[in-house]
Amino acid sequence: MENNVEQVLGGMTPEIFLKEYWQKKPLFVKGAFSNTMGLATPENLMDMGQDENFFTRMVWSEGGTKPWEAKAGPFTDDQFTRNEKDKWTLIVHSLELYFKEFREIRDMMKFVPTWQFDDIMATYSVKGASVGAHIDNYNVFIFQGKGKRLWQINENPDEAYVEGLDIKLLSNFEIGAEYELEEGDLLYLPPGVAHHGITLEESISYSIGFRSFDYPDLAGAFFTDFLTTYDSSKCLKFKSPDLPKNIHEYTDESVEDIINFFKNEILTKEVMTDWFGRYITSTNHEVSSDEELPASEIYQNLESGVPLFRDVHLRFNFHREGDANVRLFANGHDYKLSNSEYDVVEKMLNTPGYEAIKITAPLPSSVKETIVSLVNQGVLFFDRD
Ligand SMILES: [Fe+2]
Repeated sequence: MENNVEQVLGGMTPEIFLKEYWQKKPLFVKGAFSNTMGLATPENLMDMGQDENFFTRMVWSEGGTKPWEAKAGPFTDDQFTRNEKDKWTLIVHSLELYFKEFREIRDMMKFVPTWQFDDIMATYSVKGASVGAHIDNYNVFIFQGKGKRLWQINENPDEAYVEGLDIKLLSNFEIGAEYELEEGDLLYLPPGVAHHGITLEESISYSIGFRSFDYPDLAGAFFTDFLTTYDSSKCLKFKSPDLPKNIHEYTDESVEDIINFFKNEILTKEVMTDWFGRYITSTNHEVSSDEELPASEIYQNLESGVPLFRDVHLRFNFHREGDANVRLFANGHDYKLSNSEYDVVEKMLNTPGYEAIKITAPLPSSVKETIVSLVNQGVLFFDRD
């Protein structure tokens, strides 16, 4: 596929796009992608829909056992019905983890940090199908691979939802603008823009999704983790007040005591750096190594060239610690490395999960030690088959 980022962004540089559109307003680009037909076929996607290794979902806007029925995969072939009355949509997630073409698209979108990236999903739908009008908390680039899909959007939606459905559908969606997407066309939607896709012709569309972080969600996630990990043996207790002047009064001292606790124990750079690194690299896919391998066996495997792979769902990011060191976070675990060690490890972790990691130069012993931890935490693994 020959796509370049400026073509995808309608002739704009990523800098201009970030400044003018990202998280701000929709962008429609005619012919943003060349040659999307080769990315996947309906048959590919229906095969993936039957494979438990892929995270898949289906929505029936008509023809389900109830209105707007939604189910998680895997599915059976006979669920992909071919008749006029069943209007269904099949969604396949995280294609970039398994296929080179999609990994290249992800790599092309490198103007947004990887910690904001979510996944590339494919949506296969029969004529007339829809997943309804809804709002996502995502920045999404939707592009058409096959067929035609009409997108109706509203930038200032009424956020009332229909109750009692499997999926969250807006009850009062009003059309603000409409775009008809044909093969190669792209629609970027910031978080919070209501959208309704209606399949005009048997369609495959792709969504490149980036997580949007909002502060209330971050606070919720932070305090949930804080409460489960906080060391209560520190025994920080709310101070007993002095003898009260009036027993019904609570004083400035009490309020300041709470503020000081937040400042000293929570709102520190150290606590937030640590928590955020773990938070953005945690995956829903729990990985653990089957058994702890001794360092000697791991060194032996490296020397004899046993293929080394990274966990397919791996998420990793790093934070600079001073001039010479970094803190690497991988699947929620953390590792301290020098800058040069990190460079070596980054190349390994950035290898797609479907390729063996290439080790071309002798590894420094400190990197080997990190590999031992990464293997024993399930981030890397050897494949002897
Ligand atoms: Fe959506």
